[in-house]
Amino acid sequence: MPITHEIPVNLTGRSYKVTVGVDLLEQVGAAAAALTGSAGRGVIITDSTVRAIHADAVADSLTRAGCRCDVIEFPTGEEHKNLTTYGGVMDKLLSLDPPIDRKSVIVALGGGVVGDLAGFVAATALRGLPFINVPTTLLADVDAAVGGKTGLNAPAGKNLIGAFHQPGAVIIDAAVLKTLPAGEFGNGLAECVKHGVIRDDSLLDFIEGNIAKIMAADADTLAELIGRNVAIKAAVVSADERESSERAHLNFGHTIGHAVETAAGYGVVSHGQAVAVGMVAAFGIAEARSLIDSAAGRVRKILVALSLPVGFDDLPDLPAEARDPGRLREIMAHDKKTLGGVVRFILPVAPGSVAIFDDVTDEQIKAAIAAL
Ligand SMILES: NC(=O)c1ccc[n+]([C@@H]2O[C@H](COP(=O)([O-])OP(=O)(O)OC[C@H]3O[C@@H](n4cnc5c(N)ncnc54)[C@H](O)[C@@H]3O)[C@@H](O)[C@H]2O)c1
Ligand SMILES: [Zn+2]
Repeated sequence: MPITHEIPVNLTGRSYKVTVGVDLLEQVGAAAAALTGSAGRGVIITDSTVRAIHADAVADSLTRAGCRCDVIEFPTGEEHKNLTTYGGVMDKLLSLDPPIDRKSVIVALGGGVVGDLAGFVAATALRGLPFINVPTTLLADVDAAVGGKTGLNAPAGKNLIGAFHQPGAVIIDAAVLKTLPAGEFGNGLAECVKHGVIRDDSLLDFIEGNIAKIMAADADTLAELIGRNVAIKAAVVSADERESSERAHLNFGHTIGHAVETAAGYGVVSHGQAVAVGMVAAFGIAEARSLIDSAAGRVRKILVALSLPVGFDDLPDLPAEARDPGRLREIMAHDKKTLGGVVRFILPVAPGSVAIFDDVTDEQIKAAIAAL
């Protein structure tokens, strides 16, 4: 059970550690016992898919550490990240016998949907319970599990209900990614490329040098990949506490990416596919503004090697509307991150470095989309 990385996340009043390695599910019990003290108790919240594959190992670990263990499951899927599911999970949690108390710890076991929902349950049950995040998708490992955002979708839009609630610990086991479907894997890979572009050019070197092992879900290679990405996301969210613009850099590739995702409609393109073409378009804008010269080709090659799309031809199911520059520009104007009609872009300015631009013209946006 090798631990390969221990990454401190330093936030005022609430610091915790992200532990990354291989075969770490068996360590969740010890982490829970450390948080709850003697006579500990862990309540695993998970989705139906992950429960069937990975919940027993975590439950065993809790029991071995002397903790009482309960499991609450909800149906798999983004469409269940809502108030109805939240209400059902909360009712089950509050009906457990004996009742939970402030020494009970919530263990979120699953992808970003589980982490967001279980984290919000932890934030609100008894006005706040400790929680341990045990992410099981690459996207949750490198993105959702770090930063303390928890929440639910509302009929009016995604992630509109929520709270910041930092976990007591995050435990990432790279070995569980062996069972992750390829499409889900791509969602995390796109965020890894994003982190390389915004902060760490040597991360792109690492990805380039390890494509075959990454695509084969080699656990040691993935542990290294995850460790490096968690360090970047942790540094960005910690810095953001001091200077409020840093976190915006994480939106690189997401401005046009979100518009494509929205225009395509639910389930047509994955988040990772949308972000991949969004990053290519952002490079296009940066080139048109002479911010960079040669970096775009390299990033495109990496995306191709990771089986991610670099243009609309790679997304044959994408409806015409989701390729239309005018329509996408219109969707961007309604994005909740758009303030006063100004679409904010994060653009690459040097290897491993980006900056915020509020003056990208409609022509530049539309030309970059048309070039996809
Ligand atoms: N809180 C944040 O900062 C933040 C950041 C990014 C994304 N998110 C949220 O994360 C969610 C997306 O997360 P996701 O991509 O992990 O989706 P997800 O949680 O739906 O997981 C994707 C699929 O993989 C399955 N799965 C999970 N782990 C598995 C494993 N080890 N083996 C086999 N199957 C497995 C799940 O059951 C599901 O079917 C969105 O709701 C998004 O809003 C939150
Ligand atoms: Zn994203």
